[in-house]
Amino acid sequence: METSLPNAPNETRREFLRTSLAASVFMMVGGVLELVGEVLPDDVKERGSQTHGLYTLRFANFPSLRTTGGSIRLQIPGAPLSLGQIIITRFEANRFSALSEECTHEGNAVSNFANGRFTCPRHNSQFAGDGRVLRGPATAPLRSFPVTFNTGDDFVVIDVPGLTATAVKGESQFSSALNQNYPNPASTNTIIEYSLAKDAFVTIGIYSVLGKEIIELVRKDQEAGQHRVSADVSNLSKGVYFYRMDTSIGFSQTRKLTVI
Ligand code: FES
Repeated sequence: METSLPNAPNETRREFLRTSLAASVFMMVGGVLELVGEVLPDDVKERGSQTHGLYTLRFANFPSLRTTGGSIRLQIPGAPLSLGQIIITRFEANRFSALSEECTHEGNAVSNFANGRFTCPRHNSQFAGDGRVLRGPATAPLRSFPVTFNTGDDFVVIDVPGLTATAVKGESQFSSALNQNYPNPASTNTIIEYSLAKDAFVTIGIYSVLGKEIIELVRKDQEAGQHRVSADVSNLSKGVYFYRMDTSIGFSQTRKLTVI
């Protein structure tokens, strides 16, 4: 299935995107704009009282989106922080979704896409790849954002409310973020993805509920961009822990992980 943006004939949109992508390759020479999705000034439109921006993600930068079942989670640069993290998923061969990670029951972050569904670890609601409720207690689908994908293309375009073009004016399109680990709960290995707006010295550790560092995961200089680290939690007792990221650029964030 191909999804179309309103008021944008597919061929026109495809041509425009190809032109846009060519332009951004040129922009890559001077910075790191190439490394992640992009939003171009001409892609920001007024619709009613709301500004919308079109955010392009290329599979070259997010290879997991090349395969069915592949999924990524990110805070889109230039989007309102209130949107939180968005999960982009190739839930069928040629169907993508862009969904808010917030469970519609009580707002917990849902887990990553696995076995054809998202599961909320808090009360076990389940959602299909397109956000539909498969199992309660949630009754409303995950918030969804329109996605354009044409078979054969190596990118998808997400229509994001409130997105501005400011991201292309800065030196980096990345925002600093610490993502929810997956799987969560975890019993063996769990993946923690994070991003840096600028080069920084980074520390990430897993802490007990009393604040004692139990596992040091990262302690080094890293470049702006997306990163991931795998944490082996198989030796931890079952229970709730926290992982925290601190950086030399002033960004810190803590998230909760559960070991089962
Ligand atoms: S918060 Fe997700 S099921 Fe309750």
